[in-house]
Amino acid sequence: MYIESNLSIKNKVTEFIQKVPKAELHIHLEGSIEPETLMRIAERNKINLKYNSVEEVKKAYRFDDLKDFLNIYNQGTKILRTELDFYEITLEYLNKVSTQSVKHVEMFIDFQTYEKRDIKPEIILSGIKAAIADANKKTGITCYLILAFLRQLGAEAALKTFMNALKFKEDIIGIGIAATEIGYPPELFAEVFEAARNEGFRTTAHAGEEGPASYVKGSIDILKVDRIDHGNKAMDDLELIQELIDRQIPLTLCPLSNIALKNVAKLKDHTLKKKLDLGLLVSVNSDDPSYFGGYVNENYQAVASELQLSISDIRKLAENSFVSSFLPDIEKEFHLKTIKDLYEEVIK
Ligand code: ADE
Ligand code: ZN
Repeated sequence: MYIESNLSIKNKVTEFIQKVPKAELHIHLEGSIEPETLMRIAERNKINLKYNSVEEVKKAYRFDDLKDFLNIYNQGTKILRTELDFYEITLEYLNKVSTQSVKHVEMFIDFQTYEKRDIKPEIILSGIKAAIADANKKTGITCYLILAFLRQLGAEAALKTFMNALKFKEDIIGIGIAATEIGYPPELFAEVFEAARNEGFRTTAHAGEEGPASYVKGSIDILKVDRIDHGNKAMDDLELIQELIDRQIPLTLCPLSNIALKNVAKLKDHTLKKKLDLGLLVSVNSDDPSYFGGYVNENYQAVASELQLSISDIRKLAENSFVSSFLPDIEKEFHLKTIKDLYEEVIK
């Protein structure tokens, strides 16, 4: 009997990861700025960075935890000023992931970071939208936008930014909360989430990245979110896990982010495979690819190698990414069919 070698199976998994259509549902636009782009835009806008070279930027991309990372990430946002800046970073990310068979993206954008510098949402959005249109024309990729509020700025600020953003309703599919998690539990944001749901926005919340399982529970019970970003710590509450399984509430997992921010010690300890086997609706995402050492395919590849994922596991993760998305059913079905066709061709 022919026994396929481990190497040949590994190569097949790698090839399948590269080719399989995927959606990326957890990516912060500013987390995709490559060091080279950061330096180039800073120079164009005559902004003094504390780095003198791309190598120095790369060296600075090491973090002890989420707070430490967010400080460096915030420094990076200071280079962005103009519509062209937002256009270029969005296009660079979308072009990059198009080469990884990513067909659809749901991207976090942020208006609050720019309010103090009086960079208007109109400027941010017009650059981003132009890039999405150009990327779509070139590669067919689609991209929805999720407006993320920074938890540490508080609920009142989130509501104010949301009310001002209502005029861009056509351009924004949903809202979310991100940044500093601990100390800012989900219930603080009940009012803005209710207002958003009433206006027909979809909703997500970062929860259980650093914070406890109760933040995941609060996000689904009080904020009534459609999706949880991260959700790792839900594993501490088995009743909650059962609820997430029963209600098929998606968790957008970001394995390389969890390692970079020391929320998980080693990839071998990551609970992604366990969650998949339990029937949780988990997907693989990059979070902040230029900071955490990889885009979506590098995340798939890392967990495939460390957790010994099979082609059928990868298929399920890719399917979950579309099932968890905010795409209309007809588009989900189209992508699911292309995944099925590819899978059947590969295992023949
Ligand atoms: N903003 C950008 N990346 C983030 C992360 N990993 N967690 C919370 N907020 C973020
Ligand atoms: Zn995130």
